[in-house]
Amino acid sequence: MQPKIKAKARCADGEVGSISKVIVDPLSLEISHVVVREGNGVDRQVPIAQVQEIPHEEEIILRGSLEEFRACPVLDRDAYVTHHDVEIAHLEDRLHVEPGEILVPYPRLEQGMPRRSFFMNMTHAIGTLIALPLAFPVLKYLMKPMYKPFDNSWFSVGNVRKIKKENIGYQFKFTRGFKEAFMPEQQIEKNIWVVKATPEVQKAVYGGKDKKFYDHKGDMVWVNKAKAPYIGFSGKCPHLGCGYKWRRTKNFPDGVFLCPCHLSIYDEAGKVLDGPAPRPLDVLPMQVNAAGEVQIIDVEYKAGVKGQIRLL
Ligand code: FES
Repeated sequence: MQPKIKAKARCADGEVGSISKVIVDPLSLEISHVVVREGNGVDRQVPIAQVQEIPHEEEIILRGSLEEFRACPVLDRDAYVTHHDVEIAHLEDRLHVEPGEILVPYPRLEQGMPRRSFFMNMTHAIGTLIALPLAFPVLKYLMKPMYKPFDNSWFSVGNVRKIKKENIGYQFKFTRGFKEAFMPEQQIEKNIWVVKATPEVQKAVYGGKDKKFYDHKGDMVWVNKAKAPYIGFSGKCPHLGCGYKWRRTKNFPDGVFLCPCHLSIYDEAGKVLDGPAPRPLDVLPMQVNAAGEVQIIDVEYKAGVKGQIRLL
């Protein structure tokens, strides 16, 4: 049973307020705290372990007295982003609240080792689970000689007309067919992010040098020019392959790429600003024709490692 937002919260001494939000652990997708708004408008975050009972959706019973409830910290709203900001997949299926009512801890920049260690440890703990669906591509990589070479065909993903501002991430979606041995071909929805980069951002991405891409034999298949204004990033987070979003946040009002899975943050050049990501966002081979049509080679690299190891 889950409480509804606005459900009454009671403790041994009587009613203390009503639920205004819930805080969710971004890894387990479980509620870690409920936020109880007192009559004076103060929000207190109460650990879920302090919830004794949820008799029905409209009411929760907290352990302990009013005094113990008041010992719970006041909600530090700046320490959280809303679920709307990070869009954790399928969370609404699990929690019966609106996206704006779910808070997720915000990864504070440069907060030092303890928090980073926390994320690393959590990442390792769930790594085995997450790695299971990834196992096949990894096996495929290890068995590479038995498979066909990388697919270096070009995919049209849209037109740069939709890009209105520089140094902002714009999502482009496309569909491609995938065929594994003995299986019928499947159509898969994919996406990339394109930034119209200022010269400073181009320099941050390419370091002033053209970027070359190679096929499985080591032959060059394409060169992204260091001064090309449009830069395409793979839609998969290099940490463990989740989809990420371009989001404006309190600390980054102009926006950053934010991955909901373990809250890696990347700037408009794909550089890692925070979180467990081991490398910057992966730049894709991309060309833009005179009419503004964007084409990419759908390169994929192994997730979770520092260097780029091409899988696809
Ligand atoms: S998949 Fe872990 S931060 Fe993106």
